[in-house]
Order: sequence, then structure tokens, then C-alpha cells
Amino acid sequence: MRRKLVAGNWKMHGSLAENQALLGALKAALNGLQGAGVAVCAPFPYLAQLQAELSGTTLAWGAQNVSEHAKGAFTGEVSTSMLKDFGCTYAIVGHSERRSLYGESDETVAKKFMAAQAAGLIPILCVGETLAEREGNITEQVVGRQLDAVINAAGVEALAKAVVAYEPVWAIGTGKTATPGQAQAVHAFIRGKIAGLNKAAADGLVIQYGGSVKAANAAELFSQPDIDGGLIGGASLIADEFIAICKAAA
Ligand code: 13P
Repeated sequence: MRRKLVAGNWKMHGSLAENQALLGALKAALNGLQGAGVAVCAPFPYLAQLQAELSGTTLAWGAQNVSEHAKGAFTGEVSTSMLKDFGCTYAIVGHSERRSLYGESDETVAKKFMAAQAAGLIPILCVGETLAEREGNITEQVVGRQLDAVINAAGVEALAKAVVAYEPVWAIGTGKTATPGQAQAVHAFIRGKIAGLNKAAADGLVIQYGGSVKAANAAELFSQPDIDGGLIGGASLIADEFIAICKAAA
């Protein structure tokens, strides 16, 4: 049985004061939670705060992006070793906002994935189709291509030490959640595709769903056989919502 994992992606939200209140509430309610892992992915400047607040708890933390380069003249970038310095367990790679707003290609995402793993971070690899792609019936083609870029570069075994997050772009921040059936179908496709190459990697792979997950729909989504938790945007900023989502996974 795979352990579920719920991760919050704060995106570009937060302040020292707001984070302090949110983390206090999360620690009080979720430290020691049995049956599901909990993580928070904050903007880079707040990683030190996460380290200070969450060290010694069962809550993990991570970043929302990472450079594929180890060091050098890459103004504005943050390396894997810097994330390790601040105790990160996870690094999100290939979030749809990085792909669409910052031009990250499948190949760049694969490099970030490999850099993260080489440094001992667990990449949370985001994949997902746009509305036009879904309506064009090419969801599996798109998600398959995004996965192949990583499989071809890193090898399928690398997925055994990673998390995949299926985030349909049309469901992110829109309030339009994929139905449990729609999400399960893509999750099963992802697991099946990987199982065709390496059954053990597929069986152990945590595949999160992301896109307008909230307390009210989390339990039904997480009850699907191939949905192993969630990557939560907006609702991860609201303590009661995020706590309820984590408890629904546990
Ligand atoms: P929302 O939960 O706000 O739809 O965001 C999902 C997401 O992009 C998490 O990475």
C-alpha cells in the first residue's frame, strides 16, 4: 500500500507573519499525523522560516522550482545544494506555471528533475494538459510526452524515487476540479505507462492530483485507487482547509 502525500504549494503568497500563523496551526493539527505525509512548498525566501518552524516535526518542506545548474553565472536562480542547506526534502519541477509563463521545456524539466535527485531531493514532477489539449483528446499524448522526457533522460527507475503530480491546467486555480473519474483515468494511464517499463517503480510511485482540491472534494479524490494524495494550491493557504485535506488523505 502506497503512503499518501499531501503537499501545499503556496505559489507566490505569504509573509513572515502570515506564514508564522499558518505554520503554527499546521503543526498543532498535523504533527505526528499517521497514514499520510504532509509537506509545504514555499517561496525561496521563506525556506529558512520553514526550517526553523518545522524541524523536529513530521512535516516536510520544499521549494517550488530549482535550477538545473549546480552553480555559476545564473542570475536569479537557486541551486539544489542551496535547497539542501535549508533542509528541503522536496522540489517541485515542471509546474504548469513554470512551463507556460517561464518557457520551461520538457527537456529543461527533465534536467531539473535529475539535478534534484542527484542532490538527494525528491522531485515532485508536475504533468498535465491544457483545456484545448483535453478537448482535442490528446491528454494522454501530452502527459505521456512530459513523462517520456524524464524517463528518457533519467531512466524509468528514477521515478521510483520521485513523486508525480497530475495537474490538469484547466483545473488549476479555476475552481473546476477534475471529477474523481477523470483524474483516476489519467492517474491509471500514468501508472500503466510506467508499469509497462518497470512494474516495481509503478507500484511504488506516489501520484498526486492537483487542481482545485479543497476539503469538500479531497476525500472522494483520494479514495480513487491511483490517486495518492494531492498537490494543493489555494487551499494550502487556509489552515482549516489544508488540515482537513491532509486528514482526508490519512
Ligand atoms: P489550486 O489548488 O489553487 O487549483 O492549485 C493547484 C496547483 O497548481 C498546485 O501546484
